[in-house]
Amino acid sequence: MKKANAEKGPKLSWKGLRNLVQLYTYIKPYRVQFALGLLFLMLSSLSNLAFPKLIGDLVNGAQVEDISAAIGATATLLVIILIAQSVFSYFRVVLFVNVAERSLAALRQDVYKHLIQLPMSFFSQKRVGELNSRISADVTVLQDTFTTTLAEFLRQMIIIIGGIALLSITSGKLTLFMLAILPPIMIVAVIFGKFIRKYSKTVQDEVAQSNTIVEETLQGIQSVKAYANEWFEVDRYKTKTDKVADIAVKGGKYRAAFSAFVILGIFGAIIAVFWRGALLIGEGQLQSGDLISFMLYSVFIGGSIGGLADIYARLQKAVGATEELLKIIEEPKEPELSVTSAVYPDPVKGKIRFDNLQFAYPSRPDQQVLNNLSLTINRGEQVAIIGPSGSGKTTITNLLLRFYEPTSGVLFFDEKPASAYNLTALRSQMALVPQDILLFGGTIRENIAYGKPGASDAEIRAAAEQANAHEFIAAFTEGYDTLVGERGIQLSGGQRQRIAIARAVLKDPAILILDEATSALDSASEKLVQDALDKLMQNRTSIVIAHRLSTIKNADQIVVLKDGNIVEIGNHADLMEREEGLYKSYRNMQVVG
Ligand SMILES: Nc1ncnc2c1ncn2[C@@H]1O[C@H](COP(=O)(O)OP(=O)(O)OP(=O)(O)O)[C@@H](O)[C@H]1O
Ligand SMILES: [Mg+2]
Repeated sequence: MKKANAEKGPKLSWKGLRNLVQLYTYIKPYRVQFALGLLFLMLSSLSNLAFPKLIGDLVNGAQVEDISAAIGATATLLVIILIAQSVFSYFRVVLFVNVAERSLAALRQDVYKHLIQLPMSFFSQKRVGELNSRISADVTVLQDTFTTTLAEFLRQMIIIIGGIALLSITSGKLTLFMLAILPPIMIVAVIFGKFIRKYSKTVQDEVAQSNTIVEETLQGIQSVKAYANEWFEVDRYKTKTDKVADIAVKGGKYRAAFSAFVILGIFGAIIAVFWRGALLIGEGQLQSGDLISFMLYSVFIGGSIGGLADIYARLQKAVGATEELLKIIEEPKEPELSVTSAVYPDPVKGKIRFDNLQFAYPSRPDQQVLNNLSLTINRGEQVAIIGPSGSGKTTITNLLLRFYEPTSGVLFFDEKPASAYNLTALRSQMALVPQDILLFGGTIRENIAYGKPGASDAEIRAAAEQANAHEFIAAFTEGYDTLVGERGIQLSGGQRQRIAIARAVLKDPAILILDEATSALDSASEKLVQDALDKLMQNRTSIVIAHRLSTIKNADQIVVLKDGNIVEIGNHADLMEREEGLYKSYRNMQVVG
């Protein structure tokens, strides 16, 4: 898909520009500052235009009677304008940076706010690195556009239009002559510039892909090393970055040729105009100072025309970045998910019923993961789900949390269809202790408090005690302030699980979902985790995806899943009575799921 984009090549369509303009709504709150900035920009560009004229006057002044008076007046005016221009430029930059930074922060916030509310199906199809670069890199491109690009564009337009007007006043003949030379150069420059754009997008895409390699391998550094795949990754990265370099070098050649062309065009024009101007001076139709200001205007105009191509490139990039951002912003959010926390009436009490659920992941619609799943779980019951890897156990938890909607069939909570609930309200009644526990970079305290933002220290400690986690936390020198995650200490699987359980305790949900880690715990940790769970499961509906026999024995119902079908159901005693049950054979082999 990316490839196709790059090959389609550059296009600055109206739609693209409209999209970009749409983002200017973020500037609205700062429109006064923005307008002031524009005013300063105009003033500094206009005063810029006065230079060639005044320098010409300076030279002409050398030819009149009272030389020092004429030169002195012009020089003073030049100095005044110089000072004014530097003041204008200062305020222009300050104002524009201010507006751009504030509005881009708002844009970043909006994109992030939207992104985090998107459904799981969106995330399972996207790479984290790619999404990350949307918010960082794409917004940065826009930052450039909102400030420099716009300012440059306006300045160059003022210089081109104002410059030509002033030229006509100085000498109509010479202006016509120059205009006969410049537009052809301009047209070639624009076409050339357009051609160069093709590459900037390709390079951008390739760079993003190479960054993804770095990010993913660093995130999964353990696997990289465990499989001794360092060289494989180094090679993969080398291939990608070499490709980036190749494309960038190719683009660089075009750019170099482009600037060579611009230089040639400008100097060619200068020589031609000088030649014509000298002739005019000879004929007495022009003063030598006028020729100098004429030349300076021509250089200004030529430079601005050359700069327009660069602006075109930047606009192109900005339109691309806008498209990517709008793609995220226009992606439909999860239904009725409110980010603000609130107390909802009518909380779920804990009865769950699956009625003929069928499910396939949206990314793989033809692979049926759950078939005709029907199951009733009464309030306060403990249900264990076991089954071979890939049988659909985790998928059931995904449906319970409404990360995905069933393809057909209905999921009921308290005999009301799940879709009748506010998503946030529903999830606020459930706690998930997932299969892979990820702790956020931060302190242990913050990680536990994630279950109930704003919990007091006493609550956090009580939760940790109930989760059998207090003891090991207290053993750290920094206790609850110990840093975990990327920049902190590494916790063992059992310790991470108990922190996750403490999180769930703090949340105090009506429904507890536990997706047991497949990794075996040592028997001491297992006992601690099991005790913590037993306490947590009291008085609430709990669904435990079990890999350990100890978890299961007392369950009210044991569901044996195979290929997305329930093949056996009942309590321990029921299932053991079966002649050739799957559960019984698991028992006999001492393995589960
Ligand atoms: N996000 C996803 N997108 C597409 N297919 C998926 C996704 N998650 C899981 N699957 C597929 O759905 C099937 C069931 O997966 P699931 O994770 O529910 O298995 P499981 O029973 O939890 O296995 P395990 O015991 O190994 O955790 C598998 O074939 C898996 O490949
Ligand atoms: Mg699983």
